[in-house]
Amino acid sequence: MSTTSFTPRVFSGIQPSGGLTLGNYLGAIKRFVDMQGSDFETIYCMVDLHAITVWQDPEQLVHATRELCAGFIASGIDPEQSILFNQSQVAEHTQLAWIFNCVARMGWLNRMTQFKDKAGKNRENASVGLFAYPALMAADILIYHATHVPVGEDQKQHLELTRDIAIKFNNDFGVDFFPVTEPVIEGAATRVMSLRDGSKKMSKSDPSDMSRINLTDDADAIAQKIRKAKTDPEPLPETFEGLSERPEARNLVNIYAALADTTPQAVVAEFAGQQFGQFKPRLAEVAVEKLTPISTEMSRLMADPAEIDRILATGSGRAREIAAPILKKTYEIVGMVGA
Ligand code: TRP
Repeated sequence: MSTTSFTPRVFSGIQPSGGLTLGNYLGAIKRFVDMQGSDFETIYCMVDLHAITVWQDPEQLVHATRELCAGFIASGIDPEQSILFNQSQVAEHTQLAWIFNCVARMGWLNRMTQFKDKAGKNRENASVGLFAYPALMAADILIYHATHVPVGEDQKQHLELTRDIAIKFNNDFGVDFFPVTEPVIEGAATRVMSLRDGSKKMSKSDPSDMSRINLTDDADAIAQKIRKAKTDPEPLPETFEGLSERPEARNLVNIYAALADTTPQAVVAEFAGQQFGQFKPRLAEVAVEKLTPISTEMSRLMADPAEIDRILATGSGRAREIAAPILKKTYEIVGMVGA
């Protein structure tokens, strides 16, 4: 079965579990903005219920959810054009997740590398929620019959699992009800790496603030972090392939390309033979030009949290209008007696 008989609909989510980085912006939010106004209906979610699979301080969770909403809007998500909301306000996600807990197999979830990474050595002490996380993620997507999901490389395995759940549900009940969702993974900087270590993803949880650019950083901080970013003594090569063994250099080229809306190949062609001492100030310029308007707009929005809460409530209402009939139909298929 394919997705052809379903309304083209995009769903994606980001966890409100700390500050927003350049990685979130280039790898996710910027692409969400690009899909808005295309042939898709677009639904974007702050997945607070996913965030609490590891401990979150309640006050910080409230702040992070609002800040993420501000980040979405400041980056160009229009809350009228897209449906923008937080997961916990639409109970259908968790209701469908329970059904999917009963469809997904222990063996499938045991293979999830993100669980292994996040649980670490002490797996006995990980929350049950962290283990069941991918079934909730499948529910986030399928409660809207979403056909396309833009995500980073690291979420590919969870998307595969979402497809497996949809297929097994359809088979088990002899229906053609859930679409087999397509992952959308593309773009030069889908995976933005740490500025200190080109083999690690840029992360809000890295102990070094110099490893990342935060969406709330001012122009001086951005320029300083790029100036100090780790590189190597070689100049930029003639072709992009010349960067294959140079992860830090490649990361900076990818970031430049994504910020300037061009390709890494074009960036390498433009700067071929130049030293990183020349390239970095140019990168800093592009980064400051693109990112400071976002941080300014985020601060403006964060000054009025009540307005953010209103936007999330309205978005949740619109989300529920799509989700409620799909849950009702699911319950009927499964054999739940209801009115
Ligand atoms: N698991 C995703 C992440 O950690 C967040 C997420 C939750 C998500 N539900 C989703 C992404 C549904 C896409 C679709 O980044």
